[in-house]
Parts: sequence; structure tokens; C-alpha cells
Amino acid sequence: MEPEVSSGLEGGCHLAMNDYLKGDKMAARSSVLDRFSISGKVALVTGASRGIGRAIALGLAEAGADVALTSRKLPDLEAVAQEISQMGRKALPVSANVRHLPEIDNLVKRTVDEFGHIDILVNNAGTNPVFGSVFDFDERAWDVTLGLNLRGYFFLSQAVGKLMRDEAGGNIINIASEDGIRPGIGAGIYSISKAGVIMLTEVLAQEWGQYNVRVNAIAPGLVRTRFSEALWSNPAIRERTEDSTALGRLAEPEEIVGAALFLASEASSYMTGQTIVLDGGHFCSVRTLLSTISTGK
Ligand SMILES: NC(=O)c1ccc[n+]([C@@H]2O[C@H](COP(=O)([O-])OP(=O)(O)OC[C@H]3O[C@@H](n4cnc5c(N)ncnc54)[C@H](OP(=O)(O)O)[C@@H]3O)[C@@H](O)[C@H]2O)c1
Repeated sequence: MEPEVSSGLEGGCHLAMNDYLKGDKMAARSSVLDRFSISGKVALVTGASRGIGRAIALGLAEAGADVALTSRKLPDLEAVAQEISQMGRKALPVSANVRHLPEIDNLVKRTVDEFGHIDILVNNAGTNPVFGSVFDFDERAWDVTLGLNLRGYFFLSQAVGKLMRDEAGGNIINIASEDGIRPGIGAGIYSISKAGVIMLTEVLAQEWGQYNVRVNAIAPGLVRTRFSEALWSNPAIRERTEDSTALGRLAEPEEIVGAALFLASEASSYMTGQTIVLDGGHFCSVRTLLSTISTGK
């Protein structure tokens, strides 16, 4: 016989709490790891040929998803698709420039033709073609950066969001940046685009919660990829960044995967409209100050 659970409450409240606690024990019996499984789900990941997108695509496949992969260069995608196939999951490499709406439409159609639906969308493909003063940026820099980082995220989310609404739910994960929270030095247009991604996340989450579509973002700090090579291969910038980061180092692409899987799975079932900052403590670091205190210099 089930032992009586004492809630410390009387009467009706006591019974309600008892039932609640029994239900809770039921939930506790199913493994927490099951809530991280995305077995049988279909994911679409942009910018999946290298860097953060590749790491996330491989991570989602390892957690059980079939994955549609996109970037502009098909041979690079085919290599990632092969890695996924070796895990026993299906992969669909589709070449697309997500700055262009007809290519977004084709990407979504190809994915649905292959897999029937889309459960998880990861908007990851991003660019920052120029560094410098805002005085020097031209119209093309604005159009290319906003065109991919914000317009691309918006219209792909819109296309996939309609499917998710009709399929009774889904998860969208937007890769933002810490530069969207406070401006990256010399990265003005990029920072504006990433601030837009954070607001896009909140707007979509608010409107689409009623359809069981959750929308969240990840804001990484400096991650060692080709995209950021100009920064981390510069010894002065690297040292400065590491010194102002609580963990004292840059991130590897694989360190973004855990948060992506959390957001893609039932483990985050009550979370929407949020941005997870993954910056090794860059945002709040007092590391340099602490070392000054401890050495007395
Ligand atoms: N690395 C960092 O330090 C860092 C920090 C914060 C946020 N982020 C964000 O993380 C995301 C991924 O960056 P990453 O560092 O992994 O970059 P990455 O290594 O340069 O990879 C970028 C990916 O996007 C694809 N891509 C670029 N332009 C595209 C387009 N127009 N259409 C479709 N795909 C396109 C690239 O493939 P193709 O060239 O073949 O198209 C590649 O697969 C970006 O949104 C970036 O802003 C990065």
C-alpha cells in the first residue's frame, strides 16, 4: 500500500497536496534523461556545415533527431550528413542562401517532402562581413548583415512556424550573441542584428505560445570558429577576452550543444521567449580585478 504523504495541510487542501505529491512521484519515476531525448523528431539547422551549426546538428542527431542541414556549399554539408548517417539517423543536406526568400521556400519544401514535418528549427547561419567604425559601414554591409542575421531568421521562422502551428507545436532556437546584449567593439551592425534576434525571439514566443511553439535564443560569447578567427587568432584580442572572462578561456563549438538540446527538448517545456547567455562569465567578469587583489599589484 502507498504510504500516506504528509503535506502539513488539513482537509481538502491536504488531499489536493497529497494527490499532487503522488503525481510528482510518478513524474520522478520517468528518467530526467528521457526529457532530454528528441528521438524521432525532425530538426532543421542552418549554417550546419561548420562551427556552431555543425556541432548542434551532430548533437541533435546524437540525441535522436533526423536533421535537415543547410548552408550555401553542398559538399561541406554532405560531409556532415555522412557523419549523421553513421550515427544511424537520417540527414538531408540542402544548399540554400537563407538571405533569399525563394531559397527559404525551397529549403522548407525539401525538408517537408523528405521528413513530413519539422519539430525543431535552429536559426544559426550568421555573418559579420565588416569590422570598424559605424562611420565607415556602407549600405551593402548593412544589407548583407541584417539580410542574413535578422531577415533570414524572421522569414525562415515564419515559414516553419506556420507548419508548427498546423502540427500543434515545435521549438525554434535562435543563435544570437552576447553582442546583442552589449555592443561588440567594431561590430556595430552585427550587434544591432543580434539585438534584433533577441527581440524576434520574444515577439515570436509571445505570439506563438498559443500554438505550443516555443521560441528561445542562445547568446554565445567568443567561440573558436572560422567566423570569429580574426578575433581569436589575434593574440592581443584573445588575451584581453580571456582576461575578462570568468572561466579564463574561449568556448569550443561543442560547448553550445547542451543548451541547444535543452531548448529543443521537453527538458525546457516551460521556457519560452528567453535568451541563454553562454559566455563563460564574460558578461559579469571581475577576473582581472580579482587577480589584482590576490597578487596585490
Ligand atoms: N563564433 C563566435 O564567436 C560566435 C559568437 C556569438 C554568436 N555567434 C553566432 O553563431 C552563429 C554561427 O557562427 P559560427 O561561428 O559557427 O560561424 P561559421 O563557423 O562561420 O559558420 C557559419 C555557417 O553559416 C553558413 N552560412 C553563411 N552565410 C550563409 C548564408 N547566406 N546562407 C546559408 N548559410 C550561410 C556557413 O556555410 P556557407 O559559407 O557554406 O554558406 C556556415 O555553415 C552565427 O549566427 C554567429 O553570429 C558566433
